[in-house]
Amino acid sequence: MPQPVDPCSLPLEKKAALLSGRDFWSTEEVEEAGIPSIVLTDGPHGVRMQTGGSDHLGINDSVPATCFPPAVAVGSSWNPDVAARIGAAIGREGRALGVSVVLGPGVNIKRSPLCGRNFEYYSEDPLLSGVLGAAHVRAMQEEGPGASVKHFAANNQETDRMRVSADVDERTLREIYLPAFERVVKEADPATVMCSYNRINGVHASQNRWLLTEVLREEWGFGGLVVSDWGAVVDRVAALEAGLDLEMPASGGAGDRRVVEAVRAGELGEEVVDRSVRRIAALAELPKEEGEFDAEAHHRLAREAAAECAVLLRNENAALPLDGSGRLAVIGVFAEAPRYQGAGSSRVNPTRLDSALEAVREAAAEYGQEVVYEPGFTLDGSGGAEELRRAAVEAAAGADTAVVFAGLGDEQESEGFDRDHIDLPAEQVELIRAVAAAAPRTVVVLSNGGVVSLEGWHDEVDAILEGWLLGQAGGSALADLLYGRANPSGRLAESIPLRLEDNPSYINFPGEAGHVRHGEGVMVGYRYYETVKRAVRYPFGHGLSYTAFETGELEVEATGPDTARVRVTVANTGQRAGAHVVQVYVSTAAGPVRRPVRELRAFAKVALEPGESRRVELELDRRAFAYYDVEASRWVVAPGEYLVQVGESAAVVVAEQVLVLEGEERRLPLTVDSTLGEWFAHPEAGSVLVEMMGSLLGGQAELGEEMLMMVSSMPMRQALAFAGDAVPQAELDRILALGRGGA
Ligand code: BGC
Repeated sequence: MPQPVDPCSLPLEKKAALLSGRDFWSTEEVEEAGIPSIVLTDGPHGVRMQTGGSDHLGINDSVPATCFPPAVAVGSSWNPDVAARIGAAIGREGRALGVSVVLGPGVNIKRSPLCGRNFEYYSEDPLLSGVLGAAHVRAMQEEGPGASVKHFAANNQETDRMRVSADVDERTLREIYLPAFERVVKEADPATVMCSYNRINGVHASQNRWLLTEVLREEWGFGGLVVSDWGAVVDRVAALEAGLDLEMPASGGAGDRRVVEAVRAGELGEEVVDRSVRRIAALAELPKEEGEFDAEAHHRLAREAAAECAVLLRNENAALPLDGSGRLAVIGVFAEAPRYQGAGSSRVNPTRLDSALEAVREAAAEYGQEVVYEPGFTLDGSGGAEELRRAAVEAAAGADTAVVFAGLGDEQESEGFDRDHIDLPAEQVELIRAVAAAAPRTVVVLSNGGVVSLEGWHDEVDAILEGWLLGQAGGSALADLLYGRANPSGRLAESIPLRLEDNPSYINFPGEAGHVRHGEGVMVGYRYYETVKRAVRYPFGHGLSYTAFETGELEVEATGPDTARVRVTVANTGQRAGAHVVQVYVSTAAGPVRRPVRELRAFAKVALEPGESRRVELELDRRAFAYYDVEASRWVVAPGEYLVQVGESAAVVVAEQVLVLEGEERRLPLTVDSTLGEWFAHPEAGSVLVEMMGSLLGGQAELGEEMLMMVSSMPMRQALAFAGDAVPQAELDRILALGRGGA
C-alpha cells in the first residue's frame, strides 16, 4: 500500500471537491490521501439514516432507530444526565449504523412560542440550553460519532428562514443567543458546528466572518469543522473565506468550480482551501465501525427519560396520581395515536411505539380498574366531531376520573413554518370543557412541541400534565406518571403566557421586508415577564411533584472578586421519593446597562427519598454576574450588590442573600466625543474640568449641581465649540491626556 499523500498537495480541483458533499448525506472520498467518505445524518433526538430517497424534510423513511424525547422535553427535565444518557445512546446507534456525524443538538433560544421548530430546541434560557446541549454532545462523542451543534446562530424562527436577517444588537447576541453555543464549544468540543440559514445583521450566517471565525474560533477556540445547514451557502467563496469549511449537501459541482476559479484568478488564497481541507481530513478520521445496538435497552431508556421530562402544571386536590379506584374514561385520539416527535428533518423512524391507551389499560388491569376509551375528536378536526364529542362526554359522565389526551398535530406545528397563534384546536377546547363539566374529576395530558395556551379551560380541570413530545416510549412514560410509578420532576424550560400578545417578541415576530428586529433585546421570555411584572399562566421553572420539597438555609460566599459559592438545603417533606430542581437566579442593577430583574445562573436536580434532606453546593462563575460590555468588547462584572436568589420558578423566590462583589471598575478612554457627564465622573480630569468651567464662566453664573446636570449629556466636542477659543490649549491638552487613561 503506498503512503497516503498530504491532502494539501492534491490538485486544486480535488481539494475543492472535498469541500462539498458527494451527495445528500456523505462527503467525498480521496483514496490517495487516505480520506474516506463519511456519513452525516440527522439528529437530534435519534438517528435518521436514510438508505433510500434522501431529503431534509422528513418525507422519505429512514432505518429504524430509537426516537428519544425531542429537545423540548429534555429541556424540561432540567437534568444534564438525561441529556447525556440520550446523547450516549444516540452515539451508540449512530456508530452501529455507520454514521460519523449525527446532526444536533439544536441549542437555539425559544424567542417566541410561535417558532415552528421550538420542539427541537431546549429552552428560552441560554444557561439551561447550553448545559443540556454540552451534556448531549460530550456523551454522544464518547461513543464515537461527532456532533453538529446547530443552528449557529440567531435562527429563532422558520418564517423566511433562508433569507431573513435577524437584526440583533451585540449585547443581546452575546448574552442570549450565543452563550449556549459557546458553552457547548468550550465544554464539549463538538466535532462540527452547523451554521444557520438566516442572515445576522444583514450578513448570511454561512458567510459571516465575525461569527464563524472571530467569535467561534478566535474567541472560543473552536478547532472543529463548520458545516453549512443543508443549502445555506449563498456565495461559496465568501463562505469559505468567512470560515465555512464544508458545504452540504452536494452542489452539483457549482461551488467547487467557483472555488477553483477564485483561486486561479487570485481572488482566494489557496491556503484558505488547504485550511478547510485539513479540517475535513481530520473529521473523516472519526471511527466507523458498524454493528448492532440494543433496541430494547434504548427503548427502556427512552421511557425513563420521558418520565423525567413531563411537567405537572396543576394538581388540585391531589387528582393525580391515579390510585386505580373507580372507573376511568380515557378520552382523546392522542391516547391511541401518540404525537411523540415533531415534523421535518428530525423525524426518526422509531423501533417501537408505545400508546398511552395500552399502557394505561395495563396499569389499570393491575388494580382491576375499568377503562373506557373514546377518541373525542379527529386529528384533522373533520368528520363527526359532534358525534365523537357526545360519546366522549357520555363516557366521562359515567366515570370517576376522565383523562383527556389533547394536543397539536403535525399540521399545526412543524419545521418550515411558524404558528400564528398558540391555541389548541377549538374542538379540543370544547371537548375538554364538556368533559370537565360531566366528570367528577378531569385530568388533561398535553402533547405539543410548542407552548399552547391553557386559557378558557385551565380552571375547569383538576390536573394538567404537560407531556410535550416524549419520543417513542412517551405513551408508557405517561402511564407511569399518571399512576405514580414515576413522580413528575419536569420544570418548565419556557414560560406559558396568558396571552400570546404578552410575549416580548410579539410586535417584532416574524418581522417584515426581510428583517426581524429583536427589539426586546435581552428581555427574552421570563427575563421580560419578571422585569415588567407581567403575569403569566405558569412561569419558567414551574413544575409540581407528588411529594413536597422545602428549601432551607441559604449561604452565599464570595470566592473571589467576581465569583461565589452557594450552599442551600433542600428537603423532601412529603411521602414519596421525588426530584427537586434547585434554581439559582442572580438579580442586580449594578453596571451601566439595563438588566433583567433576575437571570438563571446555576441549577441542580436532586433526587430525594421521603424525609431526606441534602445540602447542595453550586458555583457561580464570573459570567453569572457579568454583562457584555459592547464598548469594551468583553464581559465585565460591575462592582456592587448582587442578590442571589433561590427560586421555585423565575417568579417565586424562596430564599435570597445579598452578595457584594468587588468586580472591576470599567475604565474606557475618554475622548472629545465623551459627554461632559462622563468627563465629570473621571477621578482626576473631572475636578479639573469643573474648575476650568467655573473660571470660564467668570462668576457670571453659579456652577451648581443643576447646571452640571443640564450640560452632562453634551459631548465635549460640542461644549468646546460653544466655548470657542476661550479654553486655553494647554489646559485642554492636560484634560485630554488625563482622559486617555480611561474612566
Ligand atoms: C435543517 C437542519 C438539518 C438539515 C439536514 C435542514 O433543513 O435545518 O437542522 O440538519 O436540514 O436534514
